[in-house]
Amino acid sequence: MRKTLIFVITLMTAMTTRADEGMWLPSLISQRIADMQEKGFRLEAEDIYSINQASLKDAVVLFGRGCTGELISPEGLLLTNHHCGYGQIQQHSSVEHDYLKDGFWAMNRSEELPNKGLTVSFLERMDDVTAQVLKGYTPDMTEEQRVELVKKNSQALIDEAVKEGKGLRATVEALYYGNQYFLFLYREYADVRLVGAPPSSIGKFGGDTDNWMWPRHTGDFSMFRIYADKDNNPAPYSMDNVPYRPKKYFHISTKGVQEGDFTFIYGFPGRTQEYIHSEGVRYIEEIGDPHKIHLRTLRLDIMNKHQAESQKVRIQYSSKNANVSNAWKKWQGEVKGIKKMKTVQTKKEFEKAFAKWAEGREFDGVISKIESIYAELEPYQFATDYYSETVRTIEVANFAMSTARLFREDGFDKAKATELAETFYKDWYLPIDKESFIAVMNEYEKNVPADFKPIYYKEKLASYGSIETWAEDIFTNSIFVDPAKVNALKDEDKAMVMADPAVEFFNEFLKWYTYEIQPVTTRLNQDLQLAYRDYMRGQMVYCRTRRVPKAFYPDANLTLRVAYGHIKGYTPADGTYYLPSSTIKGIMEKDNPDIFDYNIPQRLRDIYATKDYGRWADASGEVPVCFIATNHTTGGNSGSPVINADGDLIGLNFDRVWEGTMSDIVFDPEICRNIALDVRYVLFTIEKIGGAGYLLNEMTFTE
Ligand code: ARG
Ligand code: GLU
Repeated sequence: MRKTLIFVITLMTAMTTRADEGMWLPSLISQRIADMQEKGFRLEAEDIYSINQASLKDAVVLFGRGCTGELISPEGLLLTNHHCGYGQIQQHSSVEHDYLKDGFWAMNRSEELPNKGLTVSFLERMDDVTAQVLKGYTPDMTEEQRVELVKKNSQALIDEAVKEGKGLRATVEALYYGNQYFLFLYREYADVRLVGAPPSSIGKFGGDTDNWMWPRHTGDFSMFRIYADKDNNPAPYSMDNVPYRPKKYFHISTKGVQEGDFTFIYGFPGRTQEYIHSEGVRYIEEIGDPHKIHLRTLRLDIMNKHQAESQKVRIQYSSKNANVSNAWKKWQGEVKGIKKMKTVQTKKEFEKAFAKWAEGREFDGVISKIESIYAELEPYQFATDYYSETVRTIEVANFAMSTARLFREDGFDKAKATELAETFYKDWYLPIDKESFIAVMNEYEKNVPADFKPIYYKEKLASYGSIETWAEDIFTNSIFVDPAKVNALKDEDKAMVMADPAVEFFNEFLKWYTYEIQPVTTRLNQDLQLAYRDYMRGQMVYCRTRRVPKAFYPDANLTLRVAYGHIKGYTPADGTYYLPSSTIKGIMEKDNPDIFDYNIPQRLRDIYATKDYGRWADASGEVPVCFIATNHTTGGNSGSPVINADGDLIGLNFDRVWEGTMSDIVFDPEICRNIALDVRYVLFTIEKIGGAGYLLNEMTFTE
């Protein structure tokens, strides 16, 4: 069975897929290199990934645990997105030094700012370890036993891989629903310092209004530097550390980009579900996304209203608002895209043909099995979605529970509680939380079936009479709405805290979720995993025997991938065509001092007025800002290098167009576009706005 599997995977990845779709494993890129070269790439597979020589992979890092970054100098200089470095920039900001608002540039190495908790990881190598991971597996094992075995074998492989120490970190990841396993060995650096960031009015230009949209003019970048010990090995922050010397760093092309140019994204995409059954898609399209969107619309309306009324509240809720709104907007594009693509219908047709073909074969019955698991799962999934988008979003309840947890065996952790309270109250505005409670809990009452509500909830609601009265109780009587009361908490208060209406609300729901919902969803998801493992393999065999030209790439799982395509505009709607690039002219067209998202720095206005662009203007005489391309990307690809046919850096990935966000489920080459920042705008901003042109001296330019 193992032999056929390897054969199938190799064969399928070698076949061509629809233009530009796919997130490929770098170690297997030799299977795609001919196609890449045909589309314009001028380097070899070994230049992309090699364990024998320095290759482009050595210039790409996992930034934190959710973004990508790339090395752009022999002295450890790193580029990522502004929204990826946002937390660090915020951490260093105060009223006196508001780096978010004003930007920050270290004018020499000693001014670079260390960041607690921030790491970057280089991929040393990746290896197919399927045989080792499944060692001892027998077909009569249950899925639970298999999970246990995989865990045990993986841990042994990980321990072996990292035994040299020196910052090594390893993970074993399942690909194709556990048909294949890969070991990823990383070297993780923990001394990563902030070098610079533009003001938010550039780095977050357009804010949430422009987020997921094209045409775009956001200068979404920030810069860091990796430090190492004298031997170039990872070390915790120390004054004695020196700039890391990378095996490879990107050379920068300032030649500019043209429609049709080959582009290649190298980064860490987080999660896709390209092979799911139509029932999974139907749930997302008809139930999950619409309900989640609606609940978030209610919360965003409340936040926006209060933020518009007060400058203080606007700042307090800016990051929270951005988080809520990011997925909210993405889901809307996703639903629209799935509908337009008729994905459910297309998949149903495929499943019908597959089921018929599978009769009497190894894959007999797998389709109906998946269908019946989904049917059983649906109400539980729905209850889970509601729970996480309602109860779990009540800020004061989350805070109350976190504080309640600080009553430990040996007493109340006062220091930790004070710290928690400080962080919480700084950015909390009671009216928003209370109005949100009323809004989302009323939806909860209306839409969640009685059988999927906790008894606690039903009894409480009956005794209160309404959600409004319940809210009144929590937001008036909970001690957690009053900082003075929270700061006065002491060891003896545990019983009182556990009976507090905010703690009780959170805790009772949590217990219900943990004991009544989660065990069922865990069991069903395990069954689903198992069925998908067969269905995944089945899809590969089916397409091969039926000669369906479809290439299978593993779903994204925050491991390093290659996506290639080309620069291209698109038609979002009838009668409209979007050009593939934007310029500084568009920034000026959007500029409006009265609208927060569009209020640019005066310096940029002055530069525009005098056209003082230095060497950064393009042929049209304007400074290029962003461009779009057909690369298949997702969340996690933020900060990924956009590379040209010669392997040089031309941009920085940071978003997708919202009409194409269904690409996590189904890719449409006509409409799916990633959005990148033109590297020339990065350089222009460093030099002309930041006045930190000295940094360019350590970079290598190709022309
Ligand atoms: N949409 C981009 C990504 O998915 C950028 C998000 C940050 N920017 C924002 N305006 N919220 O994550
Ligand atoms: N902004 C996203 C990120 O943070 C990338 C956009 C996408 O989802 O493609 O990773």
